[in-house]
Amino acid sequence: MQVLSQVDSTNEEIRRNLTLPEGAVVIADRQTQGRGRQGRSWHSETGTGLYLSTLLKPDLTPEKLALITLMAGVATVSAIQQQASVPVKLKWPNDILLNGKKLAGILCEYIPGTAVIVGIGINLNQTCFPEDIQDIATSLKLATGNTVNRAKIVLSLLESLDREYEEFLQEKRTHLVKKWTDRTDMFGKTVTVHQKGNSLTGIAVGLDPEGKLILQTPNGKQQLLGSGELLTARADSKSPFSK
Ligand code: BTN
Repeated sequence: MQVLSQVDSTNEEIRRNLTLPEGAVVIADRQTQGRGRQGRSWHSETGTGLYLSTLLKPDLTPEKLALITLMAGVATVSAIQQQASVPVKLKWPNDILLNGKKLAGILCEYIPGTAVIVGIGINLNQTCFPEDIQDIATSLKLATGNTVNRAKIVLSLLESLDREYEEFLQEKRTHLVKKWTDRTDMFGKTVTVHQKGNSLTGIAVGLDPEGKLILQTPNGKQQLLGSGELLTARADSKSPFSK
């Protein structure tokens, strides 16, 4: 595990070093160009958040990419809940919300044929956020009043990632989809999903066995969203969680 005081982006640091072994982990105290999904930036001030990336090299077909993202979400929720008993919820494809605000985010970057970089950002000890995200972001400190020990949450996160990735490799898909479903409250609600410049609104019905979102559109049809689009899709246009 590499702990850096500063880096542009922990995902980028791994991308520059793809010969690292599977399971390599990079953590930074601060990111100068922290990345969120869809080309957004991720607020990464010094010492208050967890900025972590890990390199996975599964035998991956694009369909399974959706499951990797779900796997990372389940692992992150489990690590957060080991440190603080807070009602965190997953929102497809990879947001982690607390009281309706963004607590953590996951950015999976797929390098075809080679690797998946799983980047996880968790807001730990921030007591305020920049104006443009202050209404939509939260931290564990803001929600509980307690300071979180970063080392402890890193340890929990690595353990839960290990456990969930092992299950993913054993193809326990139904188990993973069920765990994700148990940790969300978005099903039955109306969401807007952006894909390739289009937006699609409908009721989120559930996940299919491959981790795709089943969306019931107003014309009564069910659409499956997921796989490759996971790197660009985002649920609910009204909540641009990362700035
Ligand atoms: C999102 O919700 O938009 C995803 C945010 C992912 C942020 C993390 S922080 C560690 C890793 N390095 C990055 O540059 N981004 C991810």
